[in-house]
Formats: sequence, structure tokens, C-alpha cells
Amino acid sequence: MDKPSREAVAGAMDAAVKWVRECRSLCVLTGAGVSAESGVPTFRGPEGLWKRRDPVSLATPEAFAEDPKEVWEWYQWRRRKIRGCAPNAGHRALAAVEAVKPDFLLVTQNVDGLHRAAGSRRLAEIHGNIWTVRCVGCGAERYEQGDFTDLPPRCGACGGLLRPGVVWFGEMLPREASGEAMEMLSRCEVLIVAGTSAVVAPASGYAAMAKRRGARVIEVNPDETPVSGICDATFRGKSGEVLPALLG
Ligand code: OAD
Repeated sequence: MDKPSREAVAGAMDAAVKWVRECRSLCVLTGAGVSAESGVPTFRGPEGLWKRRDPVSLATPEAFAEDPKEVWEWYQWRRRKIRGCAPNAGHRALAAVEAVKPDFLLVTQNVDGLHRAAGSRRLAEIHGNIWTVRCVGCGAERYEQGDFTDLPPRCGACGGLLRPGVVWFGEMLPREASGEAMEMLSRCEVLIVAGTSAVVAPASGYAAMAKRRGARVIEVNPDETPVSGICDATFRGKSGEVLPALLG
């Protein structure tokens, strides 16, 4: 498709800003691309994590059962990388929206904690959080930001294996976060989908769900995705630049 003219993009932005400003209920779905400008690697694309590593060997319960040390080494590496990253203008714009939109929910597939670090509180982390750890034995969960000296780490209470508090392929989403997301998707008037390749279920279906009910769907992504075709507006730019313009 031809690149839209500068005027066409400006016109689409004016319309989208109006939808966002006038709607009573706003939902935003984010993915790894929203943290890309903070230096957190995405999963897909030429520089993506899944280019060099196989998700089945690192992000499944089966991989963890077979080699918890290898899985933990990868998560420790990611935790170290994310520790050096700060929220960007896109995260901050999303956090600021909470003050002006009483009915708002930010649904994220990201586990990096950068939305919370930016100040977002009305947040559903549907893939969990990389800074929480959970015991596979007794189920105890805690927040742990430091490195573990011995991998895989073990539970202080029962000696069971600790696992990262994230959702792996083949696992259920956390009930509360997923329920909140579903409720919001069933009533939002506008859904912004930012920085996700929209290929991993169930979030890949959220745009279609909202659209079927008549919500306006806005996409923010430098690249086309499987949901681009159903969007009412698409902005082919970086979320750190487009989100502040859209939400400002
Ligand atoms: P992906 O890595 O699949 O997709 C990132 C998207 O962000 C791509 O569509 C990029 O075009 C876009 N992007 C890159 N830079 C951007 C920028 N500056 N601004 C906006 N968009 C940008 O990440 P997700 O869609 O989040 O799950 O991946 C979904 C799930 O797959 C993840 O939660 C993870 C992964 O495997 C598990 O590990 C279970």
C-alpha cells in the first residue's frame, strides 16, 4: 500500500484524538514494541529474542521441567537487561491518561514492569511480571528484584523450585488480570492496540472482540500486523512518539 500523505496522517490523528478525548471508556492493549524505545528487546522481528532462541525451549512449562537452570539463566539475563531500562514517553503518556479517564484500563502483555514504573496503576498484566517469583511446590509468590546467586533458585519456606511469575506458552492467563481485561473489552468505546505483533492468543483476538461490539480500534505500530485491516485508524510510528500525540 502507498504511504499516506502527511495531510492524511494529520487528519487521521485529529479524528483519533477526538475519539479518545470524547469516549467514556478507554482500553489500551500493549505489547513488547512499547518498551522497545526503552531498550527492552522485542520477541519478533529481525532483532527479536525469538530470532536466536526457540520459545519452546525457554518459555514453556515443559522446558522448565526439563532444564530449570537453562530457563532461569535466560530469565536472569532478561531481568538484568530490563533493570537497566527506564520507561519512555509512551509509558508516561499511558500513565497520565488515568488522571483524566475515569473508566480506563491498560492491558499489557509485557512482563517488564515498565508501565508500573511509569506510574500506571489501572493495569492488567495478562502475561504476569518478570519481577515476581512463585514456588512450584507451595505456590508462595513474592516480588524479587535482585539477582539469584544459585540457579535455579529455591523456596525459602519449602525448598521447592522457584519459577518466574510469567505466563508461558500453553498456560492459563492469571484469572484476575484476564477477567479485568475481558470486562473492559466488553464495554470500551475505544481500544488502542500499541506495539504488539498480534499473533499470540488470546490478546491477538482482543481487537476483533472490541471491533465486533462497535468500539473504535486504533493501532500504533511501525509495521503492519494481522489486526491492521480491522482498525479504524493506524499510525505507523513508534509508540514513544505516537502515544503522547494521541493521548496528550
Ligand atoms: P512482538 O515482539 O511479537 O511484537 C512487537 C511489535 O512491536 C511488532 O509488531 C513491532 O512491529 C512493534 N514495534 C517495534 N518497535 C516499536 C515501537 N517503537 N513502537 C511501537 N511498536 C513497535 O511482541 P508481543 O506482540 O508483545 O509471550 O508478543 C506477544 C507475546 O509473545 C509476548 O508477551 C511473549 C511473546 O512470546 C510469552 O513469552 C508467553
